Amino acid sequence: MNKNILSLLDLTKDDFLYFFKRSLDLKKRFKQGIPDRLLLGKSLGLIFEKKSTRTRLSFETAMIQLGGTPIYISTQDTQMARNEPIKDTSKVISRYVDAVAIRTSLHTNIEEFAKYSHVPVINALTDLFHPCQVLSDLMTIIENKNTYKNIKIAWVGDGNNVLNSWVNAAAVLDLNLIVACPDKYSISNEIKKNALSKNSKNSKNVIFTNNPKEAVKNADVIYTDVWASMGQKSEQKQRIKDFKGFQINKELVSKAKNDVIIMHCLPAHRGEEISQDILDDPKGIFWDQAENKMHMHKAVLEKLIMDNI
Ligand code: CP
Ligand code: NVA
Repeated sequence: MNKNILSLLDLTKDDFLYFFKRSLDLKKRFKQGIPDRLLLGKSLGLIFEKKSTRTRLSFETAMIQLGGTPIYISTQDTQMARNEPIKDTSKVISRYVDAVAIRTSLHTNIEEFAKYSHVPVINALTDLFHPCQVLSDLMTIIENKNTYKNIKIAWVGDGNNVLNSWVNAAAVLDLNLIVACPDKYSISNEIKKNALSKNSKNSKNVIFTNNPKEAVKNADVIYTDVWASMGQKSEQKQRIKDFKGFQINKELVSKAKNDVIIMHCLPAHRGEEISQDILDDPKGIFWDQAENKMHMHKAVLEKLIMDNI
């Protein structure tokens, strides 16, 4: 397995399968009250330049439950605030901790950090990708549908970091993914090309459209995310206009299969990309998604840290 997870293209199909099995197993053991203290004495550094509730806490609790210690490294209170170069920061921090989870804007920042780190670096979201989110979301799909194979997953909304990671996952796992974004907000050709060239036979499995109704027709899974991501607040008003017709609501959901599950990585803007009632509908599995981030992060931390010893 690769030392780092910066993008889901860092993982092979076997790596994905390993993480699905291990995270589901760890969750079962957790529910039975069986402790897993595999990371006793190990520590995880967390550098979060952007806000986070779920990702930060799920990494922290994952580390604690495995017997290790999470250390939140504030960018404001360290020399990072005084522009110590990423290269030097990485060389130093990776002498202290056993892995680092980073949330930052520029993907090139995390690549630079990883280049000089002695320990595994995990992407906890960049403007380009959110790999661990999609990894745990796939675990949640398997939990609900028993498999990810031949499951029609419809993405409706913005061509953002989470979608980029879905397209990467589709390339490795042969997912049946249909993506509906307004033309102006689709993902870049580079992401499409890089992901799909990984295994050309997959290209037929990812379909791009600008029609949400076409995307959700007979879908097993409907997935959405905010129309304006972190850092795009000034575009929010314009985006609300541009994304008209892309809201996940009762009418759109009625076109999917009866047993459709609705997913959102959260936080949601209630009444924008998803209606109030759908967020409170039992077809929505948002809260399981949030919980499963912790179980998946346990599987990821355990594997990357133990492999790097
Ligand atoms: N889904 C997710 O990454 O949420 P946070 O921004 O709260 O971490
Ligand atoms: N696309 C969102 C995801 C938040 C978890 C953002 O980047 O803000």
